[in-house]
Amino acid sequence: MSDPAPVTPSPTPTPLTAGAASDLELAAELLASARHVVVLTGAGVSKESGIPTFRGEGGLRATNGEPPMNGFQLFLEDSAGWWRQRLERRHTEQANPTSFARAVDEAQPNAAHHALAELERMDVVHHLITQNVDDLHRRAGQQEITEIHGNRHWLRCLDCGTRWPQREFPVDEAGELPPRCAQPGCDGVIKDDTVMFGEPIPTEALARCDAQTRRADCFLVVGTSAVVMPAAGFPLLAWQRGVPLVEVNPEPTPLTEYAEVSCRSAAGALLPELASALRSRLGASA
Ligand code: OAD
Repeated sequence: MSDPAPVTPSPTPTPLTAGAASDLELAAELLASARHVVVLTGAGVSKESGIPTFRGEGGLRATNGEPPMNGFQLFLEDSAGWWRQRLERRHTEQANPTSFARAVDEAQPNAAHHALAELERMDVVHHLITQNVDDLHRRAGQQEITEIHGNRHWLRCLDCGTRWPQREFPVDEAGELPPRCAQPGCDGVIKDDTVMFGEPIPTEALARCDAQTRRADCFLVVGTSAVVMPAAGFPLLAWQRGVPLVEVNPEPTPLTEYAEVSCRSAAGALLPELASALRSRLGASA
């Protein structure tokens, strides 16, 4: 995939307007009074780390068009060929300063990732479901994560589901392709952990998302256009049980009409303010 030049991270917070400040207070109140907050994040949370989103202005879809919806079927039909292309592409992607792969490889967690990790340490956030494959939540220190679309830096066995960081499972262009699982008794085909179009979400990840959705008594939805299922369905399933949704997104989404409050800000500006508001509240009530 290739894309336009990554956006430059902007660390300078913009002061909140009066309306935005009251939305922030309401969001803080909803989070503070919940006992099990689950977060859903999407590409918008990593935009300020220089990784382009998929949809909207400057998004990968606008630049590259829609990807084939049968990527997984194509992989299954010729997994050796897919691996050969992937290994060849590795060199050109690394040499291309505007490639998506390079943007992800060079990205650092931004203020939004750090604020979410802080909310977890404060015991305000209890689980985070991310559609992102960039590993930035983990690198910011988030512990309780489900990567529903996988992780770009990992590989996975299609048979037994074992995952390895890529650096621990070197794949040699001159070796057997597709690479095979290293678990005793398993000879399954290895693929990127990133979930392809047409590929089922790994069962374990889906089960965790379902369990967390059932437990949630507040859902914080950050930086997703909320159009890709099943991820976009989790907040709605919770909402149907009366669970309040808090949205952080500069643009409206299909979830907006269900949200108790929608904070119309960039995540990197809003979430540190939210963490600070919660710090004050929890400090005051301690
Ligand atoms: P999208 O690109 O569809 O949506 C990004 C969202 O982020 C939009 O709603 C933007 O308004 C919002 N946004 C932009 N800048 C932001 C900022 N600074 N702070 C907060 N929000 C901001 O990305 P996703 O919803 O994550 O799947 O897309 C879902 C899935 O579609 C992806 O995981 C990917 C794609 O197909 C797979 O690759 C399997």
